[in-house]
Amino acid sequence: MSTKPITDYQQASKTLRQSDLRQGLYDEGAVLMDGVLVNLHGEKHRARRALENKVFRRGFLQHYEKNVFPDTLRATIDGFVSDGSGDLVEFGFRSLMNLTCDFAGIDRPRGGQEETDRLLLLMRTFALGTTLAHSKDDREKVRKQVREALSAFDKEFLQPSMAHRASLIARYETGEIDEDELPRDVLTVLLRNEDNIELDDQELVREMAFFVVAGAQTSIHSLVHVMHEIFAWSADHPGEREKLLSDTMLLQRCVHESARLHPSSPVARRRAECPVTLATDETVETDELVTIDLLGANRDNKIFGADAAEFNPYRKIDKGTSPYGLSFGLGMHACIGRTLAAGVTPKHDSDPLDHQYGTITMIVRALLEHGARPDPERPPEMDRKTERPNWGYYPVILETPIP
Ligand code: HEM
Repeated sequence: MSTKPITDYQQASKTLRQSDLRQGLYDEGAVLMDGVLVNLHGEKHRARRALENKVFRRGFLQHYEKNVFPDTLRATIDGFVSDGSGDLVEFGFRSLMNLTCDFAGIDRPRGGQEETDRLLLLMRTFALGTTLAHSKDDREKVRKQVREALSAFDKEFLQPSMAHRASLIARYETGEIDEDELPRDVLTVLLRNEDNIELDDQELVREMAFFVVAGAQTSIHSLVHVMHEIFAWSADHPGEREKLLSDTMLLQRCVHESARLHPSSPVARRRAECPVTLATDETVETDELVTIDLLGANRDNKIFGADAAEFNPYRKIDKGTSPYGLSFGLGMHACIGRTLAAGVTPKHDSDPLDHQYGTITMIVRALLEHGARPDPERPPEMDRKTERPNWGYYPVILETPIP
């Protein structure tokens, strides 16, 4: 049995923070999601999260955005632009998968197109596993594909990445190299396991596969949604596109506003650990499911105004409300990669020069600088393989090189 979905923003926020409610969205996708961070609860979750969080400290993310990411971005976008047109969804998959693999700790030693294609294929299969609850396909068939992809991922990518790190960790332990010469990624912190958490071999394979999907797939769909919103909005608001090119904080507000309208999963789901009274005053029994309608709560007129369902980067919201609503979650499972992807929410006195904008804003800026616009000959299409409202194909035309 389950209760009515919670659509009120305040009630939804409180529900996400209730610690007697455990993750409940991925029961169908256990083939990939069993024992991964977002599916853990209580002490086990806290310990694994604390360990992995070492990779996501603010100072390092700032350094990454200012000093590492611009080169990676330029290399990816140059390839995309050289053809003069292309599919934004495909571009998003390639650029954001590589970025997430860096944070996860999955090496791509051969480099090149063939290796990226292989990893992309595996990642797309994992993505089917995370969204099994929304799949339109035969679910048993999808589970079999995910099992095979996990085993290939382990052999072709994870084992070599582990061997590489194990040898560096051994050299560090004998004093041959310094700590800052170790890779700064999730796999390295899990292998060093300074906090002695429990994690068996198969759990590690699933954790790494989940991590790549959690980081890449969400960011890809957010990227395509915000580009679409910007195209539509600037067509109706003359002069705004030029402003976006000179005001990166405004661009970041576009990213946050679009993330609010298009959460990567339209719902969050929790399962009661014991009888719980919800913020709606309803009581749920042990094991009962609670659905939080993120898409609906993020469009709550009481919080975001009468035009809550529309895209408006100039929207005024109360202090204390996130401009992206609940799209990065709240409470124990709040997104670990939020600052990496969406940056820091600007304050009135934030300095544009050392502000952290997040990787999505940086990519959007580079695409707009290249004159990205929808291809009038080839209309975009939604992804028909899932009930999630994501773009599956978004052809664009590109021009001017970055000065
Ligand atoms: C626009 C981009 C992103 C969006 C919209 C997004 C959204 C979310 C949401 C809604 C949750 C909470 C799920 C729940 O409550 O059930 C979450 C958790 C998580 N996200 Fe993200 N995410 C994004 C980017 C990233 C990136 C870049 C990474 C890693 C590099 C990442 C890694 C994770 C992980 C590991 C969790 C689980 C945290 C936990 O359970 O403690 N995400 N994300």
